[in-house]
This record gives sequence, structure tokens and C-alpha cells, in this order.
Amino acid sequence: MYQFSIGTSQQFQTAIDKMSRILDHDGVVVIETELEFLTSKEWDELEKLGLRSGLNYETVEVGDAGEPNKVEVGRLITDVDRPRVVDEEISEKILKLLKDPRRLAMLQKLAQLDSPVQIRRMQINLMHPNSFIGLHLDKDSNPDYEISVTLQLGRYFEGGAFVVYRPDGGHTSITPEYQSVTVSRCDYPHKVCTVESGVRASLVFFVSSYDGDNRRLRA
Ligand SMILES: [Fe+2]
Repeated sequence: MYQFSIGTSQQFQTAIDKMSRILDHDGVVVIETELEFLTSKEWDELEKLGLRSGLNYETVEVGDAGEPNKVEVGRLITDVDRPRVVDEEISEKILKLLKDPRRLAMLQKLAQLDSPVQIRRMQINLMHPNSFIGLHLDKDSNPDYEISVTLQLGRYFEGGAFVVYRPDGGHTSITPEYQSVTVSRCDYPHKVCTVESGVRASLVFFVSSYDGDNRRLRA
């Protein structure tokens, strides 16, 4: 299984601890490939479900946290007032694959959370040339989001770096590789730089230990 593919459970724990420290400090970490968060069969399945199953995409120019955007969004689970599955057929298949308890337990460990976590919101962002996502905080969408997980489904693109800003003024810039898993803290501001060429396609989900209504304060 993916959680043990790195070797002994001690090696697994050491890898998680290391990534957890990076996530805590930088606000972002890429999960080591050796941990095989998803098998290649699962990646293929996700790519097919997300990009070739007729999921409806809408153009978004103002993000959920009010930030300027230019991105095509395929909604799978929305969380405006509470989590709601959008496209049942596609969403349920993707959820079934992602919400494996061992996978969620791994995310809980990475985020150093005491309680089990769940997926509250999930979407696919399609970014063509000139697309970008402006600086924002995920907690402005839902104050109970802890981490977001980005699964990179886009094979070829240039630009589109994911930039996360730390409280000390520093930042980390990551250009996600095909089939990489990037985890980021929802309390650190971040943005996606303009895509220059190709298509940057990613499945993003937001994780929380809280399962009640969205406690976001609305104007
Ligand atoms: Fe975000």
C-alpha cells in the first residue's frame, strides 16, 4: 500500500515528520514521490474522471475569497454553507478514491491535527495561457480549512508557479510537476502565477477536522 511503499513504518514516520516540519514552517510541502500518495492507476483514473468525463466547467474571475482570478473551475463539492456534492456521478467516484481512511490519516499527521479529517470542498482548476489565481487566504472561504491538497493533472505547462508567503516575509515558489501532490496551509497567503503556455490542470481539495456548517462570516 502507498503508505508503506517507502519501507518500514519507521521510515514512513520519519518522512512524514520531515514533511510536516516543512509544511509548518514554509506553509507548503510536496509529498515525497516514494510515499506514493496515489498509485499510477489511481492517477490515470483521476485524470479520466476530471478531464475526460464531461465535467462542467465555469469561468471564474473573482475567487471564493474575493481575489481576482482567471481560471476555469469544474466543481465537485462546494462548501458555501455546508459541503454539497455537485456532479454526483463524477464526484462520488473521485471521493471514493481519495477519501481512503489511510490517505486521510496521512494528511491528518502531516497537518499535525488531533482529530480525523475530511474533505469539505473539491474542484478542478483548469488554467490556460494568461490564467492566474490572485493572492488569497483559503481561510477566508472557510475558517475551519486546515490544509489544501493539489493533485497536478496537467502534463505540460510553463509559468503557473504556486507561491506561498510566510509570516516572516519570505516565500516559497513551487512549479508543480505532473502527478505531484502539493499540500499547503490554509492560513498562509498564496497565489498561482500566470500560466504562459500549455494547460495547468489540477484537482484541489480542502481538508478540515470540522464537519458542521461553514462558519465564514458574510457581509
Ligand atoms: Fe488557495
